[in-house]
Amino acid sequence: MTNALMTDQSIRITQPDDWHLHLRDGAALTTTVAHTAERFARAIVMPNLKPPITSVAAARDYRARILDAIPQGLSFEPLMTLYLTDDLSPDEITAARESGLIIAVKYYPAGATTNSDSGVTEISKSYSVIERMIDEGMPLLLHGEVTNPEIDIFDREQCFIDEVLDPLTQRYPELKVVLEHITTKNAVDFVNSQKDNIAATITVHHLLYNRNDLLAGGVRPHFYCLPILKRNTHQQALLNAASSGSRQFFLGTDSAPHEQDRKESDCGCAGIYSAPAAIELYAEVFESLNALDKLEGFASFFGPDFYGLPRNKNSINLTKTPWTMDQDFQFDNSCVIPIRAGETISWQLGKDS
Ligand code: NCD
Ligand code: ZN
Repeated sequence: MTNALMTDQSIRITQPDDWHLHLRDGAALTTTVAHTAERFARAIVMPNLKPPITSVAAARDYRARILDAIPQGLSFEPLMTLYLTDDLSPDEITAARESGLIIAVKYYPAGATTNSDSGVTEISKSYSVIERMIDEGMPLLLHGEVTNPEIDIFDREQCFIDEVLDPLTQRYPELKVVLEHITTKNAVDFVNSQKDNIAATITVHHLLYNRNDLLAGGVRPHFYCLPILKRNTHQQALLNAASSGSRQFFLGTDSAPHEQDRKESDCGCAGIYSAPAAIELYAEVFESLNALDKLEGFASFFGPDFYGLPRNKNSINLTKTPWTMDQDFQFDNSCVIPIRAGETISWQLGKDS
């Protein structure tokens, strides 16, 4: 069953979900939840708060704060995750499954990215937790980069696949795994070589941009994210994967807002805020590939199918009506600069039909 309806100027698809999202906490939720809930029915909410969400109780409280921030008239379901640490207990996995609110566990290698200091130092320390996840049918979501400082930042994903992911999937062939925000042809090839319990999310910024956008002609901190943008041959592999119709690749924005001063700094932090135009920009990408007919599967079907959740019933309209992205948005006591700030976006979100 599909809701897709398409002309050159407009498209209607089943409402999409975002399978990888950072909402942050506190006053920031007013901004972030609204932007996502305007577009997506559900989102998997990352647990890398300070301190991270490592228990069912903390996830339940965080979820309640997110629900409080949903603007009137919108409906939105946050799907919660637990942050894997060296000392997470297998019983917490069972409690997570029984809660009905937590649908996955997130693995950050210690020190890999924003707020990942409590992450896993050595995957073998988590084997008993992983075994319980298999028993409970709970997927493991991976930030797939090694943290060894001797490994070149552009090679960290490939190295993770070779050194951690490949051995892990061989040891636990039944484990459901999502390799998050993939950035390389190596990741695409790896996922394509696996059965359908191994999937990957692809961000819109890794589809739209490559490392020239970050570095050529000047350093642009708002393009700095992790995993870092790669060369254009990798970008091309991601474009092919997203538009291939393979059920193993689906939408995850990794929208990751930071305060403007923390990005525009002599040590700027990683993260691109794409939530205010996420589905519109994916439409732009798929149109440029002449593959708008593949957008609905990628954005609205393959994610829920992987997680064993129902597909959404309602639909959204996107029309080819150019609009200008705001320069910034209020973000807690500061502001956040969105993707394409002050620039034109060619697709616009319409009303539900
Ligand atoms: C994310 C963040 O800021 O929380 N940053 C990013 O560049 N993607 C963390 C992450 O998902 O790696
Ligand atoms: Zn992320």
